[in-house]
Amino acid sequence: MRSSNLFALAASLSTSTAVYQGFNYGATKSDGVTFRYQADFQSLFSTAKNLVGTSGFTSARLYTMIQGGSSTNEPTQAIPAAIAEDTSLLLGLWASGGQGGMDAEITALKSAITKYGTAFTSLVAGISVGSEDLYRISPTGIAAKSGYGADPATLASYIGQVRTAIAGTPLSGASIGHVDTWTAWVNGSNQAVINACDWIGMDAYPYFQTTQANSIENGKGLFNDALSATQAAVGGKPVWVTETGWPTSGSTAGLAVTGTTNAKTYWDQVGCPLFGKTNTWWYTLTDNDAVQTNPSFGIAPGNPLSTTPYFDLSCSAVSSNSSSSPSSTTGSGSPAGSAVSSASSVQSVATTPVASYGGGLSPSQGAGNGIGASAASGSGPAPTGTTGTGSGPNGTYSNGTNTLSTTGKPTVSATSTSPAIATANAAGHLAGSVIGAIGAMVVAVVAL
Ligand SMILES: *[C@@H]1O[C@H](CO)[C@@H](O)[C@H](O)[C@H]1NC(C)=O
Ligand SMILES: *[C@@H]1O[C@H](CO)[C@@H](O)[C@H](O)[C@H]1NC(C)=O
Ligand SMILES: *[C@@H]1O[C@H](CO)[C@@H](O)[C@H](O)[C@H]1NC(C)=O
Ligand SMILES: *[C@@H]1O[C@H](CO)[C@@H](O)[C@H](O)[C@H]1NC(C)=O
Repeated sequence: MRSSNLFALAASLSTSTAVYQGFNYGATKSDGVTFRYQADFQSLFSTAKNLVGTSGFTSARLYTMIQGGSSTNEPTQAIPAAIAEDTSLLLGLWASGGQGGMDAEITALKSAITKYGTAFTSLVAGISVGSEDLYRISPTGIAAKSGYGADPATLASYIGQVRTAIAGTPLSGASIGHVDTWTAWVNGSNQAVINACDWIGMDAYPYFQTTQANSIENGKGLFNDALSATQAAVGGKPVWVTETGWPTSGSTAGLAVTGTTNAKTYWDQVGCPLFGKTNTWWYTLTDNDAVQTNPSFGIAPGNPLSTTPYFDLSCSAVSSNSSSSPSSTTGSGSPAGSAVSSASSVQSVATTPVASYGGGLSPSQGAGNGIGASAASGSGPAPTGTTGTGSGPNGTYSNGTNTLSTTGKPTVSATSTSPAIATANAAGHLAGSVIGAIGAMVVAVVAL
């Protein structure tokens, strides 16, 4: 009796405590204009599952419910791909496209429930309403010209709308949250979003924290500071790691040097302790499937796609003592005490104004994740000069006020320094969202 009770308990616990582990997948390829369709998503999900040296990368975070290139808010073909590959889904609804954009996202979500039923809904790990929308309206997001965002009250309203939309459907039990940069979560002005969420999705990139000592030696410490600060700010709500990673190639940012050696260090020190314990969607499996991005966060080749990663992903170097590895000088165990105070202490010695860095990921890096009406996006470290583009499924975000692209192709394509982008963003003429901002994260030490 006793052992069978224990068995039943263990079985029920194993369902309720499933830990998700996977990667982020944008709506387009790295060029920001070529949409991914079912076969593309399926290849990616299959590659993730079969990555040499790993097991369990069976979850996919998405940024939009809408299939790129569709004229009728058709649900993303990542869904049938996930069903075919038995890959769980952290759904995303793009929330920076105004109410019209949110309506379109919700329409696609409801269509997906009707079209795919429980084969789909049983794979849902959670639903994120928005991605970095709060970051994009913060001073650093604006300085980085990261594009349209959404304010806290609007996001809280959208979260309520999604709850209403899924009520009475097979998705009614789904856990709803929002993904944003850690700097947004520690900003008390965003409390309404925290209140509305079941879980908190945190994006953190020490690589972009150029106002701090962000060499790889401090990567783990900066990440842990971000996680601790977020956890402290959100009142006990579960914090999921929705984006983090270290570039495998590309330009140096501050003291952060890219490359596979440092990417492996970050994977070992940050990723390995998370995997299997905290819901984590790494950034990212590959981001050079169409163009070589700079910086490139992909841990495996994308062209052609390969299950052989750029470095050893096995976590074997850390499995024996991952829980006792030392934190860096900026770690939460530092004498400064809390993560926030430790970050603040760095602020006092920071000499590089965020604005001078220019902030954010390069456009092509960010492109392809969310969807938007049409806009250039991102703006990255100015020196890269990477061409940035934005695009969105056609017509999706026409909201009555603004005329949007119906081509699914960008109406603006320019370098990160193009005045056209700055003008368009500043003038607010482009409705809908800009796509480039995913992970566009310059940590605002000044914000703390
Ligand atoms: C275990 O941690 C120590 C530091 O505490 C480190 O020097 C050592 O290399 C680690 N061992 C392995 C196998 O990673
Ligand atoms: C949407 O885009 C696709 C592909 O670019 C195109 O074939 C289709 O005609 C467009 N639909 C509308 C309504 O613009
Ligand atoms: C349409 O989009 C623009 C730009 O995002 C926004 O200012 C406006 O409020 C939106 N209108 C509606 C009705 O959502
Ligand atoms: C804090 O959040 C509010 C609301 O999102 C935003 O307007 C403000 O700019 C943020 N402050 C900083 C320093 O990021």
